[in-house]
Amino acid sequence: MPLCIPPDADPTGAELIAARPHIRMHAMDGLLIEDVPLNRVADVAGTPSWVYSAATMRARARGLRTALADTGLDVSLHYAMKANDHLAILRILRSEGLGADVVSGGELDRALTAGIAPAHIVYSGVGKSEHELRRALGEGVGQINVESTEELDMLSGLADGMGRTARVALRVNPDVDAETHAKISTGRARDKFGIPWADAAALYARVATLPGIEPVGLATHIGSQIMSLTPFRAAYRRVASLVTELRAAGHTVRSVDCGGGLGVPYRNEPAPGPAGLAGVLRAAFHNLDVQLLLEPGRWLVAPAGVLLCSVVLTKRNGGTRFVVLDAAMNDLVRPALYEAWHGIVPVSAADAARPAEPADIVGPVCETGDTFARGRALPPLARNARVAILDAGAYGSVMSSTYNARPLAAEVLVDGERWSVIRARQSAKALWQGESIPDFIA
Ligand code: LLP
Repeated sequence: MPLCIPPDADPTGAELIAARPHIRMHAMDGLLIEDVPLNRVADVAGTPSWVYSAATMRARARGLRTALADTGLDVSLHYAMKANDHLAILRILRSEGLGADVVSGGELDRALTAGIAPAHIVYSGVGKSEHELRRALGEGVGQINVESTEELDMLSGLADGMGRTARVALRVNPDVDAETHAKISTGRARDKFGIPWADAAALYARVATLPGIEPVGLATHIGSQIMSLTPFRAAYRRVASLVTELRAAGHTVRSVDCGGGLGVPYRNEPAPGPAGLAGVLRAAFHNLDVQLLLEPGRWLVAPAGVLLCSVVLTKRNGGTRFVVLDAAMNDLVRPALYEAWHGIVPVSAADAARPAEPADIVGPVCETGDTFARGRALPPLARNARVAILDAGAYGSVMSSTYNARPLAAEVLVDGERWSVIRARQSAKALWQGESIPDFIA
């Protein structure tokens, strides 16, 4: 039987579970997240449901902070809330002392609603509208990362008109390949992001002359799911050299926002981790006396979440075993969009104990791209058997759609033995709320 991935390249279910401290298999209760059986969650909340571990997010926030502090760096952390913007998750990370990195008016509203102070908000993004910039200025956000001359001029005009001062960092494009998936690589010269390297120094000199603008420093972000320190090292070295150059020309550079991008080992592969990143930051910036900022998203929340699903049916086509789940690409789009690999493990201990054979794990949506995994070694799974798709806490629920008129899945937060539905499953009716049939076609 042809396999797309050689079977020995994949970690087993047991290996995946062993590497994730908040998940364990109980002989009777099946898979637990913290102290809560996923079967109990599925019985009450139904499937598909996103299930998040609060303790894991807290532990990761602390782990990152400790790794940075251990290298003697003072780094302020702004959670890139695009990874998972649920209010409860923002509240957990706020309690851990994180601010927020926002990229839209909607994210700004969410961050404020979750109680994050405007001063602890960094506003990023390549295309902030005039309306969004006005809102950011009106709320007094801590920093706006500007990505073009056009945006800088617009912001200056707005701030001046409103009698406000925008604290601005210039996001520079260091022309570094992050060696990640092309669709999430953002720091190459041909990508849409940031100010071209050759223009950065001249534009920084201009910033200080503009009304309504206070230049605070530089920002960069080269991509996401970065699994090697080499691109970080290259980008931060370049930015550090620009800090030195700008200061030599008499400019004030107080801070450097180093973006996000730290990858997670979806497949138990070797990963750089926070200590590695801290070492790179230290090497680049330790003698510059700059305030550092980081905008981590995925690293904080991806491993904390699973997508809990049920098997609708299994079938064989052309020699391939297909397991059709009740979750689909409209729920978790990462495999369809980025060929992303996510661990998939049975929830029942009895299922997990049976010998595995290759299967394609798919959703019910009417596209071949609606495939979570090909040739994945999994035990036989009967109708209604449950599986957990791992590491779905980042870029999971936030990227869901209602394609095929499939309502948004429920979300559940676990904390020790306690758990709660934190977003009710959307009703089908809610899908056409706001639609109308005009008289002229009635
Ligand atoms: N800062 C900026 C300016 C960003 O654009 C991003 C992510 C981050 C921080 C956070 O990056 P992280 O630490 O999460 O890697 N949907 C894709 C990922 C898109 C990332 C977009 N920008 C995925 O599912 O892999």
